Amino acid sequence: SPYDVVVVGSVNADLVVRVARRPAPGETVIGSELATHPGGKGANQAVAAARLGARVAILGRIGSDGHGEFLREALRIDGVDLGHLIETPGPSGVALISVGSDGDNSIIVSPGANGRLTEDDIAAAESLLSAAPVVCLQLESPLATVVAAARVAGRVVFNLSPPAVVPDELLEACDPLIVNQHEAALLLGSHDTPGRQARELLSLGPRSVVLTLGADGAIVAEGEDVTAVPSPRVEPVDTTGAGDAFTGALAWRLSQGDHLVAATSFAVRVGAASVRRHGAQSSYPRIGDLESL
Ligand code: RIB
Ligand code: NA
Repeated sequence: SPYDVVVVGSVNADLVVRVARRPAPGETVIGSELATHPGGKGANQAVAAARLGARVAILGRIGSDGHGEFLREALRIDGVDLGHLIETPGPSGVALISVGSDGDNSIIVSPGANGRLTEDDIAAAESLLSAAPVVCLQLESPLATVVAAARVAGRVVFNLSPPAVVPDELLEACDPLIVNQHEAALLLGSHDTPGRQARELLSLGPRSVVLTLGADGAIVAEGEDVTAVPSPRVEPVDTTGAGDAFTGALAWRLSQGDHLVAATSFAVRVGAASVRRHGAQSSYPRIGDLESL
């Protein structure tokens, strides 16, 4: 395959305002100046991997509005192959993001063109997907499209985000299934210790599980083994897209033959590096930036 990682997924313009505190219903608060960043979980994963040195292609849709060109250009600068990025009449995907003083974020996504990625688009790229060592999937694209992609992909790295109920077929294709604790609780319908949650997630059918724990790193569950992977401590500035940085980095290491625990240790450092800076893609490290961690 000419690519290490193929990402099927969303490309969004992130419209970001920092706020001292988030408004309650009916309330208005004044925030910072508006920042417009390239984002979207799919594009973020693609850029995270490409910036580290992976050969990456993205399969997705952008709109015919002004954001579309901006988003395409951001991917191009990072060397992501755009042969399967399709322009669609109408608006691009947009994420309305507020970032609090704690670096945490709230996001509303308007799918726009991402909502028009179809099973036919997957069929048209079947050889690309089946030849790639790793295919990354998330849930900002229509579920039927994601399921179709998993069917033809070799190794599937799936971040079940934003959380939704998905068919067993999709879960069973994952190697690994990646979720955070919030997503895990929704999937399992219960709260538990991370170690037990990881085991329970594995019993849902994926070949392996990575449960991400933010500042506490991640837990890997595979076969009988459950392994805690710690994270370096960092001062959080903006956690937006940290999960995508993690996933893109993990996918790249898996494509290079790393075992899952080793790939996760690497990816945790990439995620940590990303929270030290503003934005999603704008905060993703190159290999050299990881030395200080
Ligand atoms: O995961 C972070 C991403 O979620 C943002 O870039 C935003 O576009 C939303 O899709
Ligand atoms: Na960031």
